[in-house]
Amino acid sequence: MPDAETVSNEPLALPAALATFDELWDPRIIAQVNDYDVRIAKVAGEFAWHSHADTDEFFLVLQGELRIGLRDDEGEREVVLPQGSIFVVPRGIEHKPSSAGGASILLFEPTGTVNTGDRHEPLPAHIKTTTGRALR
Ligand code: NI
Repeated sequence: MPDAETVSNEPLALPAALATFDELWDPRIIAQVNDYDVRIAKVAGEFAWHSHADTDEFFLVLQGELRIGLRDDEGEREVVLPQGSIFVVPRGIEHKPSSAGGASILLFEPTGTVNTGDRHEPLPAHIKTTTGRALR
């Protein structure tokens, strides 16, 4: 969890924050709201199927297009999120974000939430498990 020095209390421009890193699927914590993190991430290609047993997960697409595969009681489906769209993955639902053309996203979820969930399929080498890194 970042401390008071790593999460700024100054205004923050999202384009400038996004310009500070290039790593994919590696969220940066840009703010904390009560017990929640606001995180931003750059993504491209496919993430891994995973689920969060105890929390919903909020997505806002800042740039590009994000797709999220979902496995629920009705089977497997995929939602398409163009730039400017929001979506909430309910707790416990297996999901797999992907973006063929690359995207920048904003996540809102409880501090400490692991990006790869409590359960996940075997992780490919390009995915690292993290609770979010401080923005530098
Ligand atoms: Ni997730």
